Amino acid sequence: MIATGLPATMDVKRALDSNGSQATEGLKLDFGCGRNIRDKFEGVDRLPLPGVKHVVDLWRFPWPWEDSSVSAIHCQHLLEFMPQAFVARDGVSLIQVPESPEDQDLFFAFFDECFRILKPGALMTVVVPCGRHNLSMDNPCHRRSFVETTWLSLHEPCRLETGMDAVVRCNFDYECAGISSLDQTVFHPEARARRQSESWNVISKWVVTLRANKEPGNGLVAIGSRCGTDKGTFHSYLGVYEELLSPWRDKDISILEIGTWTGRSARMWLQYFPSARIIGLDIGGPPLINDDRFTFHQINQRDQKKLRTLVTDGTLDVVIDDGSHDPEDQRLSFEALWPKVRKGGIYFIEDIQSEASLPYWESRGAKIHKLLKNGRYDDILVVLRK
Ligand SMILES: C[S@@+](CC[C@H](N)C(=O)[O-])C[C@H]1O[C@@H](n2cnc3c(N)ncnc32)[C@H](O)[C@@H]1O
Repeated sequence: MIATGLPATMDVKRALDSNGSQATEGLKLDFGCGRNIRDKFEGVDRLPLPGVKHVVDLWRFPWPWEDSSVSAIHCQHLLEFMPQAFVARDGVSLIQVPESPEDQDLFFAFFDECFRILKPGALMTVVVPCGRHNLSMDNPCHRRSFVETTWLSLHEPCRLETGMDAVVRCNFDYECAGISSLDQTVFHPEARARRQSESWNVISKWVVTLRANKEPGNGLVAIGSRCGTDKGTFHSYLGVYEELLSPWRDKDISILEIGTWTGRSARMWLQYFPSARIIGLDIGGPPLINDDRFTFHQINQRDQKKLRTLVTDGTLDVVIDDGSHDPEDQRLSFEALWPKVRKGGIYFIEDIQSEASLPYWESRGAKIHKLLKNGRYDDILVVLRK
């Protein structure tokens, strides 16, 4: 779950009901509840107001809940009042100006603490004014403003690929829905999206659903989920990869992947195979990965000449084509790279766009995995073993 859907019109109640966190059993906390405590939640506030069960200052740490003990958190119209402060290295004092690189912005300390207390997979909902709306500015006590991309910093794969060096450890997958006042005369989705992202006083609030991604274990599915590759979100290839590649997990193998994008799958391969060498190839620039086991080449996958000089014949254990997904490109790359695969090695081609290209692969002895999960027509993986 990482998306930024902007529904045409949606009220806060509908957006919250659709996130399902109300249905969860166990301890559910309504942060900064004031006098309106959410149904089936326990109220948390710094003031002992009627109905408040936990009188807690949420800007001070640690909070009085155990690790992984909370089933859901609801946090409506609290974060805009969060002071512009840092948590000092002692983990307790709030300071105005950071004194060391370890002093943590209060926003990150808050979400790290939410992550600590939430159970794996538990949901948190956040409602805040949109930073492009008067609601965000009209109250002089508001200290923070938020846009749709604010939440990226809470998602570990995005931090890694942008090289963000803030002190923050949590890993939330998220969806961000905008409560839009856009009148129904703007029907075209692109026109609506543009108005919503560029104009003032169109999106009034964000309803953000965050999921604590504490995916346990060190299998490929768990690592892939933490790294955020779409091989395990939009697509469902990780089970097939794990079944075929797990016997080589501790081996000193060589993997070449066409299509590195921001490095999510490369990070997954580096973590899953502790001794492997990963060669990344992309038409675009290199991902931010500093690891001696990773090398990168900026190459168009159609360029057979360059592919042929990349490595010696028979030296690759695994090739993964997750590049343009154009059938012609896939064939050109395969012709150039198949001789590079050693006997017993495996060649994967992801996201087959059309059934029309399948006979070509079948005639070469490929196994076709028509997974077609998540409603994806192109959730098809071709596998050739040499
Ligand atoms: C789906 S993304 C790869 C995702 C990545 N493997 C992961 O799982 O996180 C596809 C990548 O292929 C690259 N690409 C597209 N056309 C290409 C071409 N002709 N040659 C090489 N790379 C290409 C794009 O720049 C993009 O980075």
